[in-house]
Amino acid sequence: MQHPRGIVILDFGGQYAHLIASRIRRMGAYAEILPPETPLAALRGAAGIILSGGPQSVYEKGSPQADPGILALGIPVLGLCYGLHWMTQALGGEVKPGKVKEYGKTPIRVVDGGGDLLRDCVNGCTVWMSHGDEAVRLPEGFILTATSDACKHAAFADASRKLFAFQFHPEVTHTEHGEDMLRRFVALCDAEPWSVAGYAKRIAAEIQEEVGNRKVFMLVSGGVDSTVAFTLLNQVLGVDRVQGLLVDTGLMRKDEVLQIQRALSELGITNLRVEDAAEEFFHNLEGVYDPEQKRAVIGQTFLDVQKRVSEAMHLRTDDGWMLGQGTIYPDTIETGGTQHADTIKTHHNRVAAVQDMIKKGLVIEPLKDLYKDEVRMLGEELGLPPDLVWRHPFPGPGLGVRILCAAPVELADVPADALPPHGFGMQRAVLPVRSVGVQGDGRTYRHALALFHDDPFCISSDVSALSESIPNISPAFNRVLLCLSHRVPQEFVRTPGYLTPARVSLLREADAIAHEELRKDDIWYRRVWQFPVVLLPFGLQCGGQSIVLRPIESTDAMTANAAHLPQSMIRDMTERILALDGIDFVFYDLTNKPPATIEWE
Ligand code: XMP
Repeated sequence: MQHPRGIVILDFGGQYAHLIASRIRRMGAYAEILPPETPLAALRGAAGIILSGGPQSVYEKGSPQADPGILALGIPVLGLCYGLHWMTQALGGEVKPGKVKEYGKTPIRVVDGGGDLLRDCVNGCTVWMSHGDEAVRLPEGFILTATSDACKHAAFADASRKLFAFQFHPEVTHTEHGEDMLRRFVALCDAEPWSVAGYAKRIAAEIQEEVGNRKVFMLVSGGVDSTVAFTLLNQVLGVDRVQGLLVDTGLMRKDEVLQIQRALSELGITNLRVEDAAEEFFHNLEGVYDPEQKRAVIGQTFLDVQKRVSEAMHLRTDDGWMLGQGTIYPDTIETGGTQHADTIKTHHNRVAAVQDMIKKGLVIEPLKDLYKDEVRMLGEELGLPPDLVWRHPFPGPGLGVRILCAAPVELADVPADALPPHGFGMQRAVLPVRSVGVQGDGRTYRHALALFHDDPFCISSDVSALSESIPNISPAFNRVLLCLSHRVPQEFVRTPGYLTPARVSLLREADAIAHEELRKDDIWYRRVWQFPVVLLPFGLQCGGQSIVLRPIESTDAMTANAAHLPQSMIRDMTERILALDGIDFVFYDLTNKPPATIEWE
């Protein structure tokens, strides 16, 4: 355990462990995630334990197990879903496959007032269920606290031993009073208080100790995490002991580099070297059309520039330099920090060379215990402008993955029978580009279909329903757009082209307009999680281009919904973008993730 008296979430592999921990922290109690096989001795100081859900069945061989001794420590323990099953079995109850698999919103009936944790719930209160197994016999001493039609033992507890179990997930927002349930659990634990301000004080002392008399070199990407980490290191160690490098790839948003430089210099931080490498990036990207190749070229060029500049600046570890990184808590967990969490992708802060440096004590990551919203709060505490710290996330390869390129060869046509039948009287047209999607468990690379509507700025329920159904019924498409600017044209004229400074600056302008309009409405700015604006290589005539607006709502980017912005806002964005020289069409991406990914490439 990182801190005594924390609330520990033992992660049985469910997708919600981070959600639980971040919710608990927002209640002001320290929470951390550990693997279920953490030795009992290491858990003795915990203030409470939450057993997360998990994809396996507890009676299966090899299913994750914790030390049953945790149930006799005398501290509150709450088992959720798989956690309930494990607790039931460990204490002599019985778990079996349920007769009905329950998934989604379910009403529960509270029994005997719901015990300590369900007191806020009334009968018919909706909870979020997602399970195949269920407890068929409770362990001795437990009493039932809630039941549902499909699951007799939806919640139960042994208050004298402070042991609680829910078949459902209180941590997801679909569970009514879920937050109250967790708050009541936290109130039973004597947990160490948690706040970002408190963290900042403690981490300052830790940074001093870890760095000793060395110095820290940091790559600042322009993103929130590295900017906050760099600011923190500067404020703790002083500008003479920190050096930052920002590689300007030429693929960043309008004025982005300037904003960062300005915000830092207002805090007296002038040790950020900006290396303008745009020319090198554009040179290496000449003639590159394929999305994956583009990503690889951008990544490799970035490494080359970074290596060259850091060598020229003599920033070597054997000269007393450490590497600073803006890694945050979910990044350390996602790459197998705990054994049962799904390995979604190897984060670039955890590639082999960096892992090796971490082992040698050459890396400092002052944000590694923080969630994204906590990093933003810390940024504000340190004096960075709110505009900068609350910015939407932006991908590393920047606008490079938001500019679709067109090879000189024509794409194969979509066969006529792949087109879905007319729906709700709307016309539709196949666009001459393909984009990335995620369907089933795999990546798809398919055409986008555009819908044309009499009232183009209105995302009606018909439009919405069509956009959901088309990728399901028609395997040729993974994305559905609403055309905001025209009736169906005779043809879309595709212009071969790759990533050029001219195309980047056109997209930069369109992106700046879209974000400026969105920022006019603070509530919508906060509601939208990310807002890619994408450039497509076709228009009404040769050389013409198109823009796609892709505002999405999400919590973690794993799934996302297309955000339906107000009509007047969509109209204002469209009119201003269409006025840009070279833009012929504006579209609105209506596709959720899945089936489409957030980014087009
Ligand atoms: P997708 O497109 O996979 O994106 O739905 C999910 C989230 O990841 C971001 N993203 C990236 N971030 N380097 C990054 O740093 C990348 O290559 C990259 N690709 C996607 C994307 O912006 C979204 O937030």
